[in-house]
Amino acid sequence: MRYPGVDNGPASWSAAVELCVQAAHNGIAHAVLTPHFRGKPYAERIARLSSRLIRLREALTDRGLAMEVALAGECRFDSFLHQAIQSGDLPWLGRWDDDYVVLIEFSDTRLPAKIVPAIEWMRARRIRPMLAHPERIREVQAMPDVLAPLVASGLLLQVDADALAGGRGPYAQGAARALLQRGWVGVLASNAHDLVRQPPRIEPGRIAAAEIVGEALSWELVAHRPARIAAMHFPALAQA
Ligand SMILES: [Fe+2]
Repeated sequence: MRYPGVDNGPASWSAAVELCVQAAHNGIAHAVLTPHFRGKPYAERIARLSSRLIRLREALTDRGLAMEVALAGECRFDSFLHQAIQSGDLPWLGRWDDDYVVLIEFSDTRLPAKIVPAIEWMRARRIRPMLAHPERIREVQAMPDVLAPLVASGLLLQVDADALAGGRGPYAQGAARALLQRGWVGVLASNAHDLVRQPPRIEPGRIAAAEIVGEALSWELVAHRPARIAAMHFPALAQA
């Protein structure tokens, strides 16, 4: 989910709280917020966003909403991400086995050059990159198998649940289905930005996933696996 008053998320605190209310109505009890990190040093942005997280938690408590929120980020694959990995100032999405997970994004057109050595470089530092909305990348839409060497190197994929359900158009849906059929999707997540255009909605995507991979795996993708990753932020989920 996005963040109040930050990049292209909800425009106000009340809109952010309403987004959380709708997420809760849609069965979401824990949300990891992933504002963009791109084109700027990380440390200062993490500090600023952390204080906003405290304010959001207070606003949710005032509203009487029993929803837990944590801060991570969606990190553009650029030189600032490289610097942040070297300094250790990263907005972690969570843990994957013994490694730390960072949510990354590429441009919507094509995969970056020399991406496999970059993934290997991260993995050597016990970091698992997870790629946000791979189904949106036009090169992937044209040929999903272009991701094969990246997945083989350990890149995790986070597909937008609404894209799988058809909410992002036929090309994104086709790519999302192809990635799921190949067994490459690590998690299905909400790409919630607002109440209308990109709402906090996962269930239509889970139903679409169940038609391809079965009911049990669909729940693994939307609930069990995300809970294990996010248990770093929400310790109670470790027992779930
Ligand atoms: Fe993104």
